[in-house]
Amino acid sequence: MAWEDDGLELLPEAVVPSRIPSTHPLHQPWQLTARERERYRLMAQRSREQSRRAAAGELDPLHEVNIPSLDTRDLMPRQEPNGLRALSLYSGGGGLDVSFERAGFEHVASYEILDHAAETLSRNRPEWEVHGGGDGDVHGVKWKDWRGRVDVMHGGPPCQPFSNAGRQQGHLDPRDCWPATVNAIRAIQPVAFVAENVPALASAKFADYVRDVIVEPLERSRPRYYVHRILLEAKDFGVPQVRKRVVFVGFRSKKAYDAFRNPTPTHAWNDPGSDLPATMGVRAALGLPQVEEHPDGLAPTIRSGLTGPRHTTSICNSTSAARSWAALGLWPNGVAATRQAASAFPTDTGAFRLSVADVALIQGFPPTWTWPSAVYQAVGQIGNAVPPPLGWAVAKAVTKALSKA
Ligand SMILES: C[S@@+](CC[C@H](N)C(=O)[O-])C[C@H]1O[C@@H](n2cnc3c(N)ncnc32)[C@H](O)[C@@H]1O
Repeated sequence: MAWEDDGLELLPEAVVPSRIPSTHPLHQPWQLTARERERYRLMAQRSREQSRRAAAGELDPLHEVNIPSLDTRDLMPRQEPNGLRALSLYSGGGGLDVSFERAGFEHVASYEILDHAAETLSRNRPEWEVHGGGDGDVHGVKWKDWRGRVDVMHGGPPCQPFSNAGRQQGHLDPRDCWPATVNAIRAIQPVAFVAENVPALASAKFADYVRDVIVEPLERSRPRYYVHRILLEAKDFGVPQVRKRVVFVGFRSKKAYDAFRNPTPTHAWNDPGSDLPATMGVRAALGLPQVEEHPDGLAPTIRSGLTGPRHTTSICNSTSAARSWAALGLWPNGVAATRQAASAFPTDTGAFRLSVADVALIQGFPPTWTWPSAVYQAVGQIGNAVPPPLGWAVAKAVTKALSKA
């Protein structure tokens, strides 16, 4: 855009600090030059103006309101009640909670520190016991009170201390909640637990951490836990996204531990030789046309979390992810609140603007799960979540192991 670049070359090339204060000691502000900062400021200004015009109906829609072809409920058929009770920690917007519910578990309670995430759970399931805000902080709960009332405890402690996108400070990061998770397991003594995190936690860098903080304390505790560590990929469960996860699955009984089998893929991506149903590409899943200039594929990993000092409605993780989104003809920034709003607000590049419902679909949430929060909070919750079809497969594998013990 010519007007955007006018005069920018006069600005210095040197890095200048952001004027927006960082709200977290571990946040790494972007190192930008004055020229880059001004370019982003102008882009944001233009985007706000376009958004205003779109809301006023002044722009011609670029694309129709999309009707998805993928119904994620088909990826995780609801199972009969299995008689097992599930307690959820770090529940976020409910990825694992949905997984366990659809796998036939009875939900007993959720604990989540963010009020707006707890609100998502309560709005979708008014009958659930949801502890949110200070009441949902795992550090303040008397977990022993849950002993005997829970069969499986599940949760995904915050991943920022380990994520490649952060400083990877592990136990030095105040957000590290693994010790609190292990304490909860030891106090509650569930028959099994499921704890999920970013694949970086399975890397050599954190091998000592995993042994010292997670596995050994549980193997030494009374009762003792036997712990599997598995790596799973969302695309193997029909989710149209590149997303790898590490999952710790622990059992109190050695027999259940031995009976446990890693969840086997339910779908196959780009493998014509496979007998499994094919994982859809993201364009097909969203109901977009197949066009030569944008070959279909898996969406890049959706950005996790509510890091950084700014509220963002972007789900883009990195510059290489930005290239992948562009190749797919999808616009990963300025996610719109609804499909109607996305269609009314064309992007500068002509790429398809995503809505909250589209992002939730790309993460595998059922279309009936709704997001009552502001868009930046909703995309943060979705990006943080376990893709429900992947969690469902784990929950089913746990059910099977327990039934054999
Ligand atoms: C990786 S997300 C979990 C996502 C969730 N398992 C799902 O599938 O949607 C981690 C969550 O832990 C929450 N959290 C962080 N610290 C917490 C604490 N001390 N107590 C309770 N929840 C906490 C965060 O707000 C975030 O929603």
